[in-house]
Amino acid sequence: MYTARQLERARELAYRHSGITLGPNKDVMIANRLDKLKRDVAHDDIDAILSAVEQGRYVDTFISTFTTNKTNFFRESFHFDDLRDRVFKQAAGKGSELKIYCSAASTGEEPYSILMTMEAAKTVHSDAALNYSLLATDIDTDVLRHASNGIYEWQKNAEDFPEWIRPSEYFKRRPHPTKEGDYLIKVKETLARRVRFERHNLMAQEYPFKPHEFDVVFCRNVLIYFNQNDQNAILKKLFRTLKPGGTLYLGHSESPLELSPYVERYGQNIFVKTKEYP
Ligand SMILES: C[S@@+](CC[C@H](N)C(=O)[O-])C[C@H]1O[C@@H](n2cnc3c(N)ncnc32)[C@H](O)[C@@H]1O
Repeated sequence: MYTARQLERARELAYRHSGITLGPNKDVMIANRLDKLKRDVAHDDIDAILSAVEQGRYVDTFISTFTTNKTNFFRESFHFDDLRDRVFKQAAGKGSELKIYCSAASTGEEPYSILMTMEAAKTVHSDAALNYSLLATDIDTDVLRHASNGIYEWQKNAEDFPEWIRPSEYFKRRPHPTKEGDYLIKVKETLARRVRFERHNLMAQEYPFKPHEFDVVFCRNVLIYFNQNDQNAILKKLFRTLKPGGTLYLGHSESPLELSPYVERYGQNIFVKTKEYP
């Protein structure tokens, strides 16, 4: 059991370090996360741990404990259909590089789904030529490590691949070290070298990107953790980095909020930039 003061300190620290807003209905969740934090730092005194975080220690561990990293391959698969059939097709053969940014990449399933889509699109569109690059970021250093390693359990993920993707083209298999009958899949180097993983806090005042740097921005299932003011501020910063005519993909329960007059909707949470935000 934690005191109201301890829960409040944790809430305040989560907001300060990641923008994650935990309402009064989240006390049970905060308590579970504090239990995990104690295990992760191998220390039992929560007041001492919270004081240490306030003084700048254990901050990465604290952030990893408070982020929710749920994701899967080809989550909201209609976005990948759109990337393959509209975005790829419009860009192919034009000679310029298509730059894609995945802004809450978690353990990597989303950025690798983007890469598989781009590779499969070449075949679907009769070996069309398209040069592209992908930057994938997250605030959580644990998930970034997992994403860079690119190793997943097959059984947990097998159902997620659409029929137009052949996982054997993109993953190597090896026996699971502990689960008999299962195996691990590791992203092949030919695919992995197409993505750059970096840490970025979406709450940062300044983003290290140029205006109009990206043709496509994925920002899915992360805005829901922020309050509405912060969601608007993040969307505007991301929007600045998006080229006119570029595509913004949001998660199923997210909306472009104040950007609405500046985008055209192309289907389920697919938005194309029509005007610059003033
Ligand atoms: C629920 S996952 C969504 C992953 C993926 N985009 C998807 O749709 O499957 C949310 C991710 O947002 C990340 N996140 C939370 N706060 C963040 C922040 N301030 N800056 C960047 N990433 C953040 C978390 O670490 C987590 O990996």
